[in-house]
Amino acid sequence: MLFPVTYRVNAAGHMEVGGCDLVALAREHGTPLYVYDEATVRQRASEYVAAMGSAGQVLYSAKAFASPQFLRLVAEEGLGLDVVSAGELHLALKSGFPQGRIHFLGNNKSREDVEAAYRAGATIVIDGEYEFELLGEVVPEGKRTPVMLRLSPGVKPDTHDHISTGQLDSKFGFSIESGAARRAVEKALNHPRLDLIGLHSHIGSQIFALGAYERAMEIMLDLLVQLRDELGFEPHKLGAGGGLGIAYTRNDDPPTPRHFVEVVHHALLAGCLQRELKIPQLVVEPGRSIAGPAGMALYTVGSIKDIPGVRRYVAVDGGMGDNIRPKLYGARYEAYLASGPDRAPDGKVTIAGKYCESTDILITDIEMPPLKPGDVIAVPAAGAYCLAMASNYNGMPRPEVLMLKDSEARVMRRRETLDDLVAAEVF
Ligand SMILES: Cc1ncc(COP(=O)(O)O)c(C=O)c1O
Repeated sequence: MLFPVTYRVNAAGHMEVGGCDLVALAREHGTPLYVYDEATVRQRASEYVAAMGSAGQVLYSAKAFASPQFLRLVAEEGLGLDVVSAGELHLALKSGFPQGRIHFLGNNKSREDVEAAYRAGATIVIDGEYEFELLGEVVPEGKRTPVMLRLSPGVKPDTHDHISTGQLDSKFGFSIESGAARRAVEKALNHPRLDLIGLHSHIGSQIFALGAYERAMEIMLDLLVQLRDELGFEPHKLGAGGGLGIAYTRNDDPPTPRHFVEVVHHALLAGCLQRELKIPQLVVEPGRSIAGPAGMALYTVGSIKDIPGVRRYVAVDGGMGDNIRPKLYGARYEAYLASGPDRAPDGKVTIAGKYCESTDILITDIEMPPLKPGDVIAVPAAGAYCLAMASNYNGMPRPEVLMLKDSEARVMRRRETLDDLVAAEVF
């Protein structure tokens, strides 16, 4: 699934999402412009929830993309939320996200983070020794707060090194292999202000090969046997993280959310049965696979530079400031001429951004139809980890964001102004 579920080519031959003509949206709202398809957000979120049924809980990982209207959709579909900072939590609370469904993660939580998480009644997922101290200071005497522990199962999934997190050499989690996980469980159980309700893992992101989750589950369940036998502890919740991959190019064929949940749930059930363990509630926390396929980026072509025999650069009005992924992870995208996605290609071009960095290239060597200044280019699968990582580098305001549904475009985030850029400066 490279395009949102409502994508089609309309009678004018233009790309259309949610009943809205993408060329018309670009003209009316300006570019760079990010558009989300409400039907796709709901379809992906509800597929997770339906697949999970009563077996556990699905949290949306706010880090992939968060805005009030988006979070409310996700909440309406019955998901909880995974946040990693007081900032993400603040946005969630201001958006009216149901408080009882929030988990607070992060590998170096500050005192402010822990205080905010405690005040909001979030389940805190402890990710390091230091947090035991912080929690001891923040949680008042006589009170207890629910916590989980982030463990590192030592599994290396088949994904980009920079987005795999569960292996031994990682800044995240208490390692199972080294014995740190067992010691952390003991510490949490003996802590007077903590209720250890579960254990958590997250092995990486943009994962297609689900066998890595089965391996991680086996390792987690072996630990559960040890914890039950040696400490009498059996967790109420077991977190398998997020990480399901999505299609960024036409050749990508990732598993569906349903398949992902079924594989992880089956590994949990079969593994518990085999080890005679009580079956904990399963928690998964997808981000990319909900927001990613729902979003598209729209850019307008500006300057075109031909270097005969070498390369044709087509520059657009966005780039690494709204999508750092090509540079950060070597991510590959597709691009289409929004006014004629089916038009025959006439050669390879390299789509460059407008930032003053020679590495600011969105897509290297992609077949495109003839392009001219003013053409609108659409990049699918841009809903996750693009705007979420956006910056104001080079003094560029961040783009406007729309939610599309039934031929209507609702503004979710207005375009930043030049005054927004200097709003925090002290003159
Ligand atoms: C702990 C944790 N949970 C969930 C996610 C969401 O992953 P994804 O967006 O790949 O589903 C991440 C992403 O890095 C993460 O670090």
